[in-house]
Amino acid sequence: MRKHIVAGNWKMNKDLSETKSLIADLKSQENKGDAEVIIAPTTINLHAAVSALEGSEIHCAAQNMHQQESGAYTGEISAAMLKAVGVNTVILGHSERRAYFHEDDALLAAKVKTALAHKMRVIFCFGEELEDRKAGNHFSVVEAQLKNALFELESDPWLQIVLAYEPVWAIGTGETASPEQAQEMHAFIRKTIASRYNQDLADQITILYGGSVKPANAKEIFSKADVDGGLIGGASLNANDFYAIVNAFA
Ligand code: PGA
Repeated sequence: MRKHIVAGNWKMNKDLSETKSLIADLKSQENKGDAEVIIAPTTINLHAAVSALEGSEIHCAAQNMHQQESGAYTGEISAAMLKAVGVNTVILGHSERRAYFHEDDALLAAKVKTALAHKMRVIFCFGEELEDRKAGNHFSVVEAQLKNALFELESDPWLQIVLAYEPVWAIGTGETASPEQAQEMHAFIRKTIASRYNQDLADQITILYGGSVKPANAKEIFSKADVDGGLIGGASLNANDFYAIVNAFA
């Protein structure tokens, strides 16, 4: 069976003391199901988050990293720096990085390559805009995003990749893709991977859904055959809500 994952993307929220207090609240919750739990605090708090999470089952991820190993890249963070503070998972390609920081497929392909070279796990986000869906182009857009950033990879590194399909129109908007829309796209993604690689590999890839997942809709979305968990924004900032989503797998 594929691994289930529920990951919380905290975005630019929670300062140091708030990070520690939310982690304390998360640690007091019970995971009654089989989902791996990941949180992604902001970069400056990752070191403290890793210490605060010691002894718990919760893993810590970064929200971004630079593609170069080191050097004159003011304000940036390298893969080695993340690993040095105990962070082995990185979210790449989030739609906010694509839209506000102009991260395109070629740049993301370079970031993925660097992260994989450092044996990091990548949560790779992608998804169509509302105009794409309205125009009926959502499948071709999603296929191009996958192909341009990931299809140069050999099969083996794919075992370090988790996909997160996030339709941009559903992120932070309260608008969720219906469970049927999520399933339809996740099945398409799996089929696309199977035709580039093989069915066996496609069947092993965890594909998360992201976009306004809440305690009220998580169970139904996660019940779909090709939906293996969620990438949660807003609802990950509250321990009760986040664990209600984690426990949709109970
Ligand atoms: P949301 O964000 O749950 O607040 O819609 C999801 C995401 O951006 O990953």
